[in-house]
Amino acid sequence: MKFIEARRIRNLPPYLFARIEQAIAAKKAEGVDVISLGIGDPDLPTPDRIIEEGARELHNPANHQYPSTAGLAAYRQAVADWYGRRFGVSLDPEKEVVSLIGSKEGIAHLPWCYVDPGDVVLVPDPGYPVYGAGTILAGGETYYLPLTAENGFLPDLAEIPDTVAHKAKVIFINYPNNPTGATASKEFFAQVVDFARRHEILVCHDAAYSEIAFDGYRPPSFLETPGAKEVGIEFHSVSKTYNMTGWRAGWAVGNADAVQALGRLKSNLDSGVFQAVQYAAIAALNGPRDEVQALCELYRERRDLVVDTLNGLGWRLEKPRATFYIWAPVPSGHTAVSFAERVLEKAGVVVTPGTGYGARGEGYFRISLTLPAPRLVEAMQRIRDCLDRVTL
Ligand code: MLT
Repeated sequence: MKFIEARRIRNLPPYLFARIEQAIAAKKAEGVDVISLGIGDPDLPTPDRIIEEGARELHNPANHQYPSTAGLAAYRQAVADWYGRRFGVSLDPEKEVVSLIGSKEGIAHLPWCYVDPGDVVLVPDPGYPVYGAGTILAGGETYYLPLTAENGFLPDLAEIPDTVAHKAKVIFINYPNNPTGATASKEFFAQVVDFARRHEILVCHDAAYSEIAFDGYRPPSFLETPGAKEVGIEFHSVSKTYNMTGWRAGWAVGNADAVQALGRLKSNLDSGVFQAVQYAAIAALNGPRDEVQALCELYRERRDLVVDTLNGLGWRLEKPRATFYIWAPVPSGHTAVSFAERVLEKAGVVVTPGTGYGARGEGYFRISLTLPAPRLVEAMQRIRDCLDRVTL
């Protein structure tokens, strides 16, 4: 029997990292010691104090039943308290916070709440692939906002035609940015609020990397911007800050209507985050700041190692102030894919081709710093050996 896939899924490619996983598996099957600088998945373990809290709650039978879909009151309170301490943003845990099974899930589902077939969603390019996938699944149309080096990898809102802005229901933004490592100023966020107000567009800010920052820089929350709560919500999680990608605990916060619409949708789709995981996430959020600082220091060392090595080979990269990603142009003569294929073939090293994040990622590759320094050193050595000469 051949079942015909629904139109909405026919155009949906397998997730970028599912494809990359297959390429890694094929190379490993050939006996190659593959070093993956692909997915941004922290290599360090979740801190013990968080694991212990999760383990304690795992033994509590009360947590073996359905969780509250919106999230435990204590979970939503911990998120609100963290926003207060970290950003000076005040949130009503009842109305302005909803739990997510990781922020990816919420980002993918949000368009279902506000996008009817034919509506436009403004999506950064390059950008996290889930913004586009969620749009396609809701029947919406993506309008890509080019992020260019000349513009500091910020979308140029003035370039969006009024006819497009008029049809747009949602805009996705993401700072500190994946994949480019770019950061946004408070002034840029103020422009976004103004644009969203003028065109009645819901702003969805993905703040997953707000805690991974270096050299004294502390990324702002979009919700710090005056008026932001009128027009926007922010997605975040414990994944990258506390090495908890596997636990799946995130949240959406901000505009009460949007948060509650997402919660209502989710109450029909899933049954919330396992409560033992919610308790572990509460422990994470209430933990000491120096734990996160130590993690950032480690990523800073790795960043310096990789950027200094690449610059020694002929690149001219600036050190990103945030995220654990290095976004670099491919050497001349290569496309994003041909370069990624070459380093996998000749060096057994996986880098993510920029086009995995959209057409504007052409000419770039991304390195994730989520590997111990000795493996990064080896990866850099192997890349150096497989490139004859780097001309950019
Ligand atoms: C990435 O590597 O772009 C992200 O870690 C993938 C994800 O968060 O799903």
